[in-house]
Amino acid sequence: QTSNWVPLGGLLVALGAPAAHADALRDQASSIFKPIPDSVTEVQGEAITPAQIALGKQLFFEPRLSSSHIISCNTCHNIGTGGADNLPTSSGHAWQKGARNSPTVFNAVFNVAQFWDGRAKDLQEQAKGPVQNPLEMHSTPKAVEQTLASMPEYVEAFSKAFPNEKAPLSFENMARAIQAFETTLITPNSRFDQFLKGDDRALDAEEKHGLKAFMDRGCTACHNGVNIGGQAYFPFGLVNKPADKVRPVGDKGRFEVTRSGSDEYVFRAAPLRNVALTAPYFHSGQVQDLKEAVAIMGNAQLGADLSNEEVQSITAFLKTLTGRQPQIVYPVLPPSTNATPRPE
Ligand code: HEM
Ligand code: HEM
Repeated sequence: QTSNWVPLGGLLVALGAPAAHADALRDQASSIFKPIPDSVTEVQGEAITPAQIALGKQLFFEPRLSSSHIISCNTCHNIGTGGADNLPTSSGHAWQKGARNSPTVFNAVFNVAQFWDGRAKDLQEQAKGPVQNPLEMHSTPKAVEQTLASMPEYVEAFSKAFPNEKAPLSFENMARAIQAFETTLITPNSRFDQFLKGDDRALDAEEKHGLKAFMDRGCTACHNGVNIGGQAYFPFGLVNKPADKVRPVGDKGRFEVTRSGSDEYVFRAAPLRNVALTAPYFHSGQVQDLKEAVAIMGNAQLGADLSNEEVQSITAFLKTLTGRQPQIVYPVLPPSTNATPRPE
């Protein structure tokens, strides 16, 4: 290594090798990962329109989608805090606690399916869940349609977002508009993406070490692609069973979806974009420290006792996955009318 460096007038000048080294690392990484694109223009083959995005933004921040009129999507997926709520498990209707940690909505459009167990096939199907979940927003499709139809501004916004439809204002179109808005919640230009695109200096030496270890150790068997995860399902505890606190016995993951014995404790490999912002970790939300989450993964998924140094450098690498956060202007919401159902 030292022989590649030649002193020239007091400066150390590199002769090719370190750059070639970075290129090799980039080539290896580029065969596994992809940068976040600057924008998403269609979803499920349909173009997304500015009118749908504007309406979806209002709905994302709309507390009157909940029966209490105080809980919006943003309550548990706060745009200002990485698209999550940083609680072990979320508090919903009447302060009830759900069983799982709220994942970030950022870059969710790139996941193969939604929820820790992938039970919703896309964001449109997903958005209908929390509104009706008794522990979350505690409403019904009928109450939502009645609420939105009571405000003329919403009636008009739905007509603009879904022109040529007989009944533009519907629960289904609420979900479609929210999905359209969520496609704008992407975080391009992380330092890791800058590195993938050719900037050697975007990562420091420790972060490059961590990237190399992440790939060579085999984390990438499950965490790969544009979202560094979110693409496939694996047993949590493939090699060693994690502690009951981290993997509670009662939550069997994908088993609840497929009822197949081989899916017990199977979960979607968590997408790791912006992971530095979304503590606490795992579906149980019981691990606060990212370093501890990395060490648990090494043991549970790979049967490897990672050294402190490896844990440290992999964690440093994961922190480079924080991208440009969405800059959202808080939407103005229409005032309730006499016809708007009262909060319960
Ligand atoms: C999961 C969006 C309301 C808590 C998700 C996911 C999305 C999402 C896209 C899946 C992300 C992924 O799988 O990576 C929304 C939208 C909402 C909403 C659009 C409003 C209509 C809420 C509320 C709460 C909440 C109010 C808390 C009370 C959660 C939790 C999960 C989740 C705990 C994971 C559940 C599981 O995997 O079983 N949400 N969310 N969400 N959200 Fe929300
Ligand atoms: C979750 C990192 C290897 C499958 C996670 C999380 C991190 C992580 C930080 C938590 C993310 C969050 O809660 O938002 C790593 C590292 C690895 C590694 C550093 C290598 C040392 C693997 C492998 C597999 C895998 C090899 C598949 C065999 C999963 C699954 C989850 C997950 C299924 C979700 C677990 C749950 O909470 O239910 N990973 N991972 N990981 N990872 Fe890994």
